[in-house]
Amino acid sequence: MPVAPPPPPEILAAFEAAKGFMPTHEGLALHAAAVEAGKLGLPLLEVGTYCGRSTLLLAEAARRSGVTALTVDHHRGSEEQQPGWDYHDPDTVDSELGVMDTLPHFRRTLYRAGLEEHVVALVGRSPQVAALWTAPLGLVFIDGGHTDEHARADYEGWVPHLAEGGLLVIHDVFPDPQDEFTGQAPYRIYLRALESGAFTEVSVTDSLRVLRRTEAATRERG
Ligand SMILES: C[S@@+](CC[C@H](N)C(=O)[O-])C[C@H]1O[C@@H](n2cnc3c(N)ncnc32)[C@H](O)[C@@H]1O
Repeated sequence: MPVAPPPPPEILAAFEAAKGFMPTHEGLALHAAAVEAGKLGLPLLEVGTYCGRSTLLLAEAARRSGVTALTVDHHRGSEEQQPGWDYHDPDTVDSELGVMDTLPHFRRTLYRAGLEEHVVALVGRSPQVAALWTAPLGLVFIDGGHTDEHARADYEGWVPHLAEGGLLVIHDVFPDPQDEFTGQAPYRIYLRALESGAFTEVSVTDSLRVLRRTEAATRERG
């Protein structure tokens, strides 16, 4: 994959300041993939918005290519982000309802970076939104729930919409169970994509994997 120009310094600074879990070197790899995928002229889709940290990079790539970044989240947090778990941030709890709500954080992140107009937020459960989706996508970035049930549903719901030549990006791929903190479900969908024969690996940046769809989707292969 050709090296894409990095995001402008102010967007990189906004990414680094935003709440979230993605380290900068993985963010740069995601951004490069999004810039490359944007050349297809199709929307770039993310599963797992959280507070918009990674969305900023998709939005910046979308702005460059004149496409739209789509980001799906119910904004109630994954299992490991709930109160009492390692990844919980009390700031993300709605004080009136007492449940997590990352949507206001996401909206502030995007607004402050001036990237709102390049993003459409899809607020809901990923499988429910995917079931309604029909348009082709240039990039599918999976960074949602880490249980097998969620990762499988994200893969089966969204990957069939990835255009030939489009990029599948999966975060938190840990081949060694000793390295993982939230389960190996992302690793299993990564293997599934490779074993389908419809993808070739483009890059590996720690736990971020980029695969290119080399074959059109079939119902079985996703
Ligand atoms: C690891 S965080 C995403 C981090 C974000 N991409 C970043 O880099 O900052 C996972 C997100 O997926 C969302 N999520 C988990 N399961 C989901 C589902 N089934 N449908 C929609 N969103 C889901 C959670 O609410 C959470 O915000």
